[in-house]
Amino acid sequence: MIRHFLRDDDLSPAEQGAVLDLAATFKTDRYAHRPLAGPRPVALIFEKPSLRTRVSFETGVAQLGGHPLVIDARSTHFGRGETIEDAAAVLSRYVDAIVIRTFSDERLAALAGAAGVPVVNALTDGFHPCQLLADLLTIRERLGGTAGRTLAYVGDAANNMAHSYLLAGVTAGMRVRVGGPAGYDPDPAVVSRAHEIAAWTGGGVETLRDPYETVDGADVVVTDAWTSMGHEEDGRDRIRPFLPYQVNSKLLGAAAPGAIVLHCLPAHRGEEITDEVMDGSHSAVFDQAENRLHAQKALLAWLVSTPDGAQSDVDG
Ligand code: CP
Ligand code: NVA
Repeated sequence: MIRHFLRDDDLSPAEQGAVLDLAATFKTDRYAHRPLAGPRPVALIFEKPSLRTRVSFETGVAQLGGHPLVIDARSTHFGRGETIEDAAAVLSRYVDAIVIRTFSDERLAALAGAAGVPVVNALTDGFHPCQLLADLLTIRERLGGTAGRTLAYVGDAANNMAHSYLLAGVTAGMRVRVGGPAGYDPDPAVVSRAHEIAAWTGGGVETLRDPYETVDGADVVVTDAWTSMGHEEDGRDRIRPFLPYQVNSKLLGAAAPGAIVLHCLPAHRGEEITDEVMDGSHSAVFDQAENRLHAQKALLAWLVSTPDGAQSDVDG
């Protein structure tokens, strides 16, 4: 069976740990591990804008000895009626893995269903699991581990990052709290899945309304854009309901004294996070951005190492 990485819970706790261990190894020398030597080609499809994801995957595949093919969806036939399933079948004849940033999770699932090679979610409307691998690596580095730590996400709790924190956080044994305004709550199916995972990892899940209660004593404070890609014209007020959830010095004051602050970026300074916090001593956002590279390299190496994703010789 081909292993895909479409959602955070596609990796078991042990598998997530193994990928993060591998990422830490890759980080010690970014040119020393070449499991994609050949060079094995990897397609990187973008149907939404990107800076970090595009560049970290493109450089990462090259560093692994592979050949990255960046495909801007506007330059393909997707807009002219070619189905995602046909594209998946064709690409699978050329490349060893397909990484895609797209809109719906149904579209991603359709691609994966028709692909003969591993498919990686580089952000959908529902999830951003590659970002979470980088975030967990950063938490490990800064706090020495993830198990038992409390992560507080404040802001748009209905978006892809909130969902990924819920699933990946509990997979890593964290206590995940999400706090956002009424009408911007996480998908109940994701919350219930997170509870299920937390029951066997020792993690925890809380969905809250009050930002101070959400952040109270937290080890990791996280936020994200109030307007995600694709929601620019959704007709909803994406400023006023979120103002109490801004990550500023006052809100951060409610967290644990040694708390770290994460943001997947791009940040909208002055909206969901202030300059003072972004550039302050608690911020780990640029380490977090760097860790996209190491985490995704480890993920690709792990996925392509054997047909079922079991690890063998993944460090090349
Ligand atoms: N964090 C993140 O995915 O950034 P990009 O949209 O720039 O890829
Ligand atoms: N929630 C954001 C994340 C960007 C990396 C979005 O989907 O636009």
